[in-house]
Amino acid sequence: MKKKVLSVLLAVAMTATLLVGCGGSAPAATEAPAEDAAVEEVAEAATEAAGDTALADAKVGVCIYQFADNFMTLFRTELESYLVSIGFSKENITIVDGANDQGTQSGQIDNFIADGVDVLIINPVNSSSAETITDKVVGAGIPLVYINREPAAEEQQRWADNNWDVCYVGCDARQSGTMQGEMIVDLGMDAVDMNGDGKVQYIMIQGDPENVDAQYRTEFSVKALTDAGWEVEELFNQVGNWQQDQAQDLVAKALSQFGDDIEVVFCNNDGMAMGAIQSIGAAGRKVGENIYLVGVDAIPEALDAIEAGDLSGTVFNDHLAQSHNAADAAANYITGAGNDHNIQCDYVKVTPDKVAEIKGFLGL
Ligand code: BGC
Repeated sequence: MKKKVLSVLLAVAMTATLLVGCGGSAPAATEAPAEDAAVEEVAEAATEAAGDTALADAKVGVCIYQFADNFMTLFRTELESYLVSIGFSKENITIVDGANDQGTQSGQIDNFIADGVDVLIINPVNSSSAETITDKVVGAGIPLVYINREPAAEEQQRWADNNWDVCYVGCDARQSGTMQGEMIVDLGMDAVDMNGDGKVQYIMIQGDPENVDAQYRTEFSVKALTDAGWEVEELFNQVGNWQQDQAQDLVAKALSQFGDDIEVVFCNNDGMAMGAIQSIGAAGRKVGENIYLVGVDAIPEALDAIEAGDLSGTVFNDHLAQSHNAADAAANYITGAGNDHNIQCDYVKVTPDKVAEIKGFLGL
């Protein structure tokens, strides 16, 4: 990088000399635009090179709410490699595990501030702590990119009102819930209403209820059914905290309590759907034959499960686009380009006919 800057600076100096040399006699009118263009091009290259150095020298602090989360593991792995690919130095990137404890994470943020990081990327343990986090980070003059757990609309409004270098990068969780419900609707009422009582009996396994992704997926998955004119009956709705083991226990409990009455199992993420698969199998039920199951994320295990016929479908939570957008946003703050306050990407439905395509896209 340093070499590149040097050569560009030399080019600028040489062009300047050349232009000064021409200065004595007024250049012909036709020559001027070409010279202007050359100066502009060199100036652009110099700015770009200066940006490259700025990134290579920038210290990045990344706070993940919990390393023991399979989706966030995919996310942070991609985030680190993409940050390096756009010019940040690996040794200047520090990623820490909040261990699902806001107190721990707040201490980590204090340490990053004390270390003088140039930008922070934060996946908050509690979205409701965003206001405190923002005040602290903005107060220290550090730009901030929130990821994965969307702070409340009023909090985002503060960033805009104060013109702070703070943004959120994520996807609209309402879309993922809607897509889960639509995949069930697309199977047709005749197939799903196995007991023929004219309504769909379902159970809901929720992620962390403080997380807007869990709230919206819970609401919008069912809304897609009722929007299609289907009558629904909720038999069971419990919190599995995004965790496979907790979901496995909950689904086992629901199956022993409600047995064959359960027609659909909604899980707010694939991790929990993997737990549901264990309990569905243990109860002697078969997905696609006498029960339906949907998740969100499209983690590799879930894609394999769809192929094996153990999962009816999932929704791709694009960790590639989100991690790249987050890294690009961090870079834009460092170079002074700035960002919008809310940067979104789309979810994608993954039904059995789409698994090969998505696997190919993910290089699996
Ligand atoms: C993902 C979950 C993950 C959660 C962490 C959600 O968007 O779907 O798998 O556990 O983010 O906050």
